[in-house]
Amino acid sequence: MDQSKDNPILRFRAFIWGIGMFSVFAVAFGIIALINGKSKPYATEDAAATPRYETKSKVDAAQAANFSYKEVEAGKTVQVPPHDVFAHVAKQLVAAKPTAVEKPEQLVPGSETQKKMEETAKNAAPVEVAEGDANAPIDPAVMAAGQASFALCMACHGMNGEGGPIAPPLAGSEWVTGPVSNPIRIVLRGLGGPITVAGKEYNMPAPMGALPQLSDDQIAAVLTYARNSWGNKASAVTPDQVKAFRGEVGLPTLQASDLKAPK
Ligand code: HEC
Repeated sequence: MDQSKDNPILRFRAFIWGIGMFSVFAVAFGIIALINGKSKPYATEDAAATPRYETKSKVDAAQAANFSYKEVEAGKTVQVPPHDVFAHVAKQLVAAKPTAVEKPEQLVPGSETQKKMEETAKNAAPVEVAEGDANAPIDPAVMAAGQASFALCMACHGMNGEGGPIAPPLAGSEWVTGPVSNPIRIVLRGLGGPITVAGKEYNMPAPMGALPQLSDDQIAAVLTYARNSWGNKASAVTPDQVKAFRGEVGLPTLQASDLKAPK
């Protein structure tokens, strides 16, 4: 056989060998890569992830050891956070932007904000309302509504406003018939401390609580009724006059000295 490189048979044989060897190596490397790939997928990210996972599981374990669980009812447990959680929350609260306090009900009793608001209220110009005409006729419908609402006052002030062991009289009281702001503010804020009514000093066992839940109409009617019953005679109280004092709701209980001198 011609051994020269030009022998096509030899060249074809070398070509087949080449393909054969290539395939053998390709398959061998393929198998090795497959086996390797299955057992440990290794990449730079994986190399970094391993210690991260280790750290995370350490942190998880440490946290799990710190959290305690409380059984609230049979078979039901809740997580009780460790104290540093409270510290964390407290820090956030301190750093948090305070929300504006708009209503007295939102105040924490005894807080700095409450004290400030009280000061502001004290220094603010007192609300002034024009007194009504004492000679104007009183609307009988308002008197009837007032009588109905008076059931509330009756328990303490007596059926006919005569007063009793827990509240001074409304009949003949200059606080009822005097400046209209006095009875309105008393109902909206309550009243405590010693008080002189019709020349007699009273020191009741408990202060009168505020009744701000009554509507402007109800307060106007009940005061109109009290100002024009049992011998009392004074101008009707209008809902607008009551409304003018709504801003005081929630402020501390009044003392007689906070009121306008009735005579
Ligand atoms: C829980 C009992 C109670 C109720 C209810 C009550 N009061 Fe009073 N009221 C008092 C007490 C106590 C005083 C005296 C406060 C003080 O110690 O200075 C008073 C004082 C007053 C005064 C000033 C003093 C006087 O006798 O004139 C007026 C006015 C008044 N109340 C109106 C009313 C009206 C109107 C109602 C109903 C809407 C009402 N009160 C409901 C207990 C009450």
